[in-house]
Parts: sequence; C-alpha cells; structure tokens
Amino acid sequence: MATTERADLEAFWMPFTANRQFKAHPRLLARAEGMHYWTEDGREVLDGVAGLWCVNAGHGRKEITEAVSKQLATMEYAPPFQMGHPPGFELAARLVKLAPGDVDHVFFTNSGSEAVDTALKIAIAYHRLRGEASRQRLIGREKGYHGVGFGGTSVGGMVNNRKFFGTMLPGVDHLRHTHDLEHNAFSRGVPEWGAHLADDLERLVALHDASTIAAVIVEPVAGSAGVLLPPKGYLQRLRSICDKHGILLIFDEVITGFGRLGAPFGAQYFDVLPDMITSAKALTNGAIPMGAVFVRKHIYDAFMKGPENAIELFHGYTYSAHPTACAAGLAVQDIYEREGLLTRGAKLAKTFEDAVHSLRELPRVIDIRNLGLVAGIELEPRPGAPAARAYEIFVKAFEKGILIRTTGDTIALSPPLIVEPAHIDQLVTTLRELIKEVS
Ligand SMILES: Cc1ncc(COP(=O)(O)O)c(C=O)c1O
Repeated sequence: MATTERADLEAFWMPFTANRQFKAHPRLLARAEGMHYWTEDGREVLDGVAGLWCVNAGHGRKEITEAVSKQLATMEYAPPFQMGHPPGFELAARLVKLAPGDVDHVFFTNSGSEAVDTALKIAIAYHRLRGEASRQRLIGREKGYHGVGFGGTSVGGMVNNRKFFGTMLPGVDHLRHTHDLEHNAFSRGVPEWGAHLADDLERLVALHDASTIAAVIVEPVAGSAGVLLPPKGYLQRLRSICDKHGILLIFDEVITGFGRLGAPFGAQYFDVLPDMITSAKALTNGAIPMGAVFVRKHIYDAFMKGPENAIELFHGYTYSAHPTACAAGLAVQDIYEREGLLTRGAKLAKTFEDAVHSLRELPRVIDIRNLGLVAGIELEPRPGAPAARAYEIFVKAFEKGILIRTTGDTIALSPPLIVEPAHIDQLVTTLRELIKEVS
C-alpha cells in the first residue's frame, strides 16, 4: 500500500514515538468499530486500551458522527471570547450534573495538557484574588503525568518527560510517589499499605511554608507511569492536609474521568472532593479534541467580583468550547447515560480483576495492579535494557490482534467500557501466551 512506503511516512514527526524504529516497521490503523480496529490490510485488532484511554463508548458511534456533522453544517465555528453558542452552555450544564459535590463550573480547553495548565493558573490567580499572592508554588508528585505544557511538565514526575527540557517552572516541588512493590505487590484494588505517604506534603509545607503553596496536583490513579494506585486512605489524607494549610487540591482525571473506575470521576469513586478536576479524552470519546477544568463553587465565586464589565480571567483558547467538540461531547454524554457506561466498570471490575490476576504465576511478572477497568502488569526489566521486554510484547500483541499499551516494563490495559467478558478473556489469553514466549 502506498501509505506504508517509507517516503510517505517520513514527514510526520510522531509524538512519543521511536520515529526511526516505527517508520522501519510501521503499524497503521485504518478503521474502527465497536471494540476493534482494523489495519490497512484488513486485520482485526481488539482494542485493549480505548485508543489511548479515550474511547470509552467504543468506536464508530454513529450518534457522535451525526451530531458532529450536523453541527459542522449548522455552524462550524463561533468565537468563545465575549460571545457564546448554545452547545457550549448545554455541555457545561450537562457535565456539572455528573460532577461531585459543589463542582459547578467548567472551563473548556482542547486537551488534557491545556486543562492542567489552566487549572494551575486558576489556582495561582485564585489565591492572588483572595489577597494571598505569595501562594505561587505548585506541588506535583514523582511519577505523575500531567501532559506536556510547561506547567504540566513541571509538576509531572516522569523523568524522561522532564530531563530534556531544563529547569521548567521555578518553585515547583514534588511529593514522593506511592509505588512500592515490597509492601503492595499483587494487591487487588487499592493497596492497604501507604496512606502515611501523604504526610510527605507536611514535609514540603515545613520546607517551603504553606503561605507559598498554591496547589497540589495528583492523578487519583496514575495512568501513564504504569497504573499506580493510591494506597487506601492516601487521597483522604492528602485532602485533609491541604485543608489544614489552605492549599488547593487538583485531581487530574484525564484518564480516570468518565467511568474508568466504575464511577463518573475518581473523586466519586474515592469519595474525596478536590477543588478542581481536570479532564479530556473520554469527554468526547476521543472523537474531537477537548479538555475541561471542573471547579468548585468557591473557586468560581472568587473570580466573580469587581466591576461587571471586567474580564474575570485573562485566559482562554481560540477553540475553547469549540462547537463541534461540544456537539460530540453532548452525543457522548447521551450514550454514557443511555447505556449506563459510567458505572459499568463497577459491574465488570471483579471479572477483569480475576482475569488479570490469573497472570500472576507467569515468569517475570513482578506485580499486577487493577481498579475498575484499568490494570497494570509489571514485568521484571531485562538487565541493561529497561522497557525492551514489554515493548517486544506490545509489538507481538499487535501482530496477534490485540492493542495494549506499555510504559517502561508495565503493560497497561484500559479497554472501552463496552467491553464484554469474552474480550477480556482474549486480551488475557493472548498476554499469557506472549509473557511465556518472550523472555
Ligand atoms: C493524567 C493526564 N493528564 C494530562 C494528560 C495530557 O492530556 P493530552 O495528551 O490530551 O494533552 C494525560 C494524557 O495521557 C494524562 O493521562
């Protein structure tokens, strides 16, 4: 096929990809429907990762296509600054109904990275508006992933994502991560050990003083670093330390938002109310790029002061609340609601858990972690060649008809929420063969 010729692949500098390796041995997807992709040569590939943690309602949903086409035909674009359009307001009103507690406003972006940078800026501005302008420090966590903007990279804690880009934002610090195989290997669901790791925030408060700290941002479940689960009680403890010191807590739910854990948001699953939630991906089922920052009432209210003709937040994107993204988002929320997808993960969680933990006795499997419909299977790295073993499994898995994701030597699974037990079985059976085969 013409598209697989090397010359045709060259111009595209691919993101987070080994470009030369890929272009020598490309893997091209051409079509998708339901739980499957198809390659250019017509091979069926079971989607074990919802594209990239996005396609929670499964592929090829006609309702989304129709809503987007209709919106494009009606009005393809409208300016979002000092102007509005009905789908933007409709989607925001719809989304806040899903959100926990007094989370009652939504700021739209185009990606998870933009949602993170937006939330961090809102946090700093919030304190300034309340007369606490010294609160400028942002606290992330080791092994965290918060996208690739300057803010998100700075608070992120994955070393390869940071080390090439210098010192990033000043004043940022990081909590220690919670990944501990010695205490927690092969936990089913959240691990029992490690709530006290949240006390690391007290160390940072003692070092920097609370009066300099604006916000803490964490993923309730860290996805990109390899499915790292919060120890039982950890997020509650983080919340109470933030409260004690007047620090805002941001949950980055770009992966956990929209049903991944069996509840609309991780905040509801863990019963911890953050001050802001960042989201993207499954918000539109991945069909049209969109992100959103959900904020609680006290955050929005802090900005709604001063003269009514003054712009309250000098921040926004040309494509904030893009009409086609809003149309996609509305259609997706209809599907989630009609099919009960945002809680379906809770019903399938046990089946999924039992299936992935059946890989426990295989050679070189050093941990298996799971929650809702997300799982991580960690393999012992090859001496001197970290990530090589998992990458080989990823390539062979694709050849055998399943799409998985790997980070380092961890295999991640996060299937669309329409997944059936037979699909889970296929994923696990294929992985069992490959983990045995690849040494
Ligand atoms: C927790 C988290 N935050 C932010 C992002 C960045 O989102 P995007 O790639 O849409 O910018 C991701 C992407 O995987 C993510 O997992």
